[in-house]
Amino acid sequence: MHIRLKNLKRDYGQLHAVQDVSLDIPSNTIYGIIGRSGAGKSTLVRLVSMLEKPDAGEVYYDDERVDNLEGKALIEKRRHIGMIFQNFNLFSSRNASENIAYPMEICKMDKAYIKKRVNELLELVGLEGRGDAPISTLSGGQKQRVAIARALACKPDILFCDEATSALDPQTTRSILALIKELQAKMNLTVVMITHQMEVVRDACQRVAVLDSGRIVEEGLVSDIFANPKSEVTNDFLSNLTNVKDSIVRWSNVAGRFTLRFRGGTTDEPVISNVTAETGATFNIRAAGVQEVAGEELGVMVLDIGPDEQHVKAAISLLRKYGVSVEGDL
Ligand SMILES: Nc1ncnc2c1ncn2[C@@H]1O[C@H](COP(=O)(O)OP(=O)(O)OP(=O)(O)O)[C@@H](O)[C@H]1O
Ligand SMILES: [Mg+2]
Repeated sequence: MHIRLKNLKRDYGQLHAVQDVSLDIPSNTIYGIIGRSGAGKSTLVRLVSMLEKPDAGEVYYDDERVDNLEGKALIEKRRHIGMIFQNFNLFSSRNASENIAYPMEICKMDKAYIKKRVNELLELVGLEGRGDAPISTLSGGQKQRVAIARALACKPDILFCDEATSALDPQTTRSILALIKELQAKMNLTVVMITHQMEVVRDACQRVAVLDSGRIVEEGLVSDIFANPKSEVTNDFLSNLTNVKDSIVRWSNVAGRFTLRFRGGTTDEPVISNVTAETGATFNIRAAGVQEVAGEELGVMVLDIGPDEQHVKAAISLLRKYGVSVEGDL
């Protein structure tokens, strides 16, 4: 299901939690929304998932307006949505199977069908045979698997994940993201992934919107945004990405003022030699490596440029002409 947001607004008193957000979220994809704490991510999800009404603006699912639905029509439309959260929101009084069965009981589905579907879902999320487990005996990753099974029980078209992996360790995060990717493809889901972790965007999403103080400051293909971040917030998220600079050897912490990012084609060209030849600038490479972003290879290089400001400026402008993203203070 394709989601379209038009000029959405939501205030809490004086606070503009969501300001004029317009977005197109294509169907059958994993779409990331990243932002710092307080940026308005959860508020935006509540508006898009019809849990809360916007003060202004419109929400469309497949060209049908849904933000103004009430009563039965609203309940019917909400059946097309599954949601998972950071804190899992499971019933501790119910075991794994009973948690997964819950939304189907609410919809008054046939008991025999529910039983069969619960087993199918347990298998789908890799928890076959664990249906009787009390929630308190499950690990965080297993709890999130139960929550995913419950969210998918009624075969939704859209899955909202609000910080679904934020409480998990890196390895468990990877396994949950892999599961979400697998289920997305299997069920043709539109997944909206809310996060403050660039790793999640890099490893799971096709497109991303960057939210800051309630506004979208950048939107596009994940590979484009990693290769060429435009906003300060995006740059901040990228420089905090643990894997980039930690996975490559860095010889010194003081040196390495500039970070270059090369995508696809440019990784095969002798760009640095060309820039040296054309501008006379000197490069001192401190660290370098290649990482995979949304299925595309991205080269990252941490270096210093010399010998003086004039050469630095000339080198940077030429690098940018070659399509290399340059980050760092002049
Ligand atoms: N029900 C509410 N009443 C008053 N203010 C609220 C309410 N919900 C959210 N806010 C405020 O709106 C702003 C955005 O909050 P929101 O929860 O959407 O941020 P977030 O991006 O999800 O943050 P986090 O990463 O911490 O979850 C915050 O300043 C928050 O305090
Ligand atoms: Mg939130």
